[in-house]
Amino acid sequence: ENHCIALNNDVMIPQIGFGVFQVEDGPQTVDAVRTALEDGYRHIDTASVYGNEASVGKAIAESDVDRADLFVTTKLWNDDIRKRRTKDAFQESLDRLGLDYVDLYLIHWPAEGWQEAWAAMQELYAQGRMRAIGVSNFERNHLTELLEQTDVLPAVDQVESSPTFPNQDLIDFCHGKDIAVEAWSPLGGTGGNLLTDQRLLDIGEKYGKSSAQVVLRWDLQRGVIPLPKSVHSTRIMQNIHVFDFELDESEMQLISSLDTGKRNGADPNNFDF
Ligand code: A2P
Repeated sequence: ENHCIALNNDVMIPQIGFGVFQVEDGPQTVDAVRTALEDGYRHIDTASVYGNEASVGKAIAESDVDRADLFVTTKLWNDDIRKRRTKDAFQESLDRLGLDYVDLYLIHWPAEGWQEAWAAMQELYAQGRMRAIGVSNFERNHLTELLEQTDVLPAVDQVESSPTFPNQDLIDFCHGKDIAVEAWSPLGGTGGNLLTDQRLLDIGEKYGKSSAQVVLRWDLQRGVIPLPKSVHSTRIMQNIHVFDFELDESEMQLISSLDTGKRNGADPNNFDF
């Protein structure tokens, strides 16, 4: 269940992470994270803007999983980037989580001032306040600018990626620079009908798996770290049971061919939040 891959600083990251975007703060988040930990997830992905860090922290505190066995990510929000509050915002996230370090801290979006935020994060990283630093929603242009000026290679770029928007060129660029890629909305997000696609259902039937499991397996075989979200225990359980089958090359290609070129989320070069 906890197959790990090495980040570029040798920190190990479990290749399936549990995402909590749009999971309600309070019992809904506490229950979902508790269920995930019971099912064997060891990687939780939250963010300051999700508003549920305290509930994530509560579930972690109440579980009997050792902190050292857990991989926890949170993210610096855009307003804090614009207000030059990186170090304060980081400490506030730690306080809400009830942790004394996180495994990965990400710039959530390339908001105005991200270059200064990255400089502040490099200082925190040098002090050992987090085990790795990275970015999210950075396109090739942002990464190119970052790589020109940084002393620390970002460990991760977390981007939108699913069969309808694989984002494969950006992923290949990142992998070429030894930057790991995490996929948000790996199942196509809310409101889509990706998971009822008959082609995915047919592939799943061959292996006794659901369409969601097929999509997550496609990510694993592309070397991507998917962050599936669910508040339903049967789905939470399903989404980590993806290490016991293998898609063949034609299945991998078929899934990649579902590309519509259309994002679900915002364009990182043109967002207004
Ligand atoms: P729910 O929380 O109600 O289960 P994303 O692509 O952003 O991870 O979104 C996945 C969406 O699909 C969520 O709305 C989630 O809703 C739902 N979902 C998650 N896992 C599964 C699954 N195994 N089967 C069907 N739907 C799923």
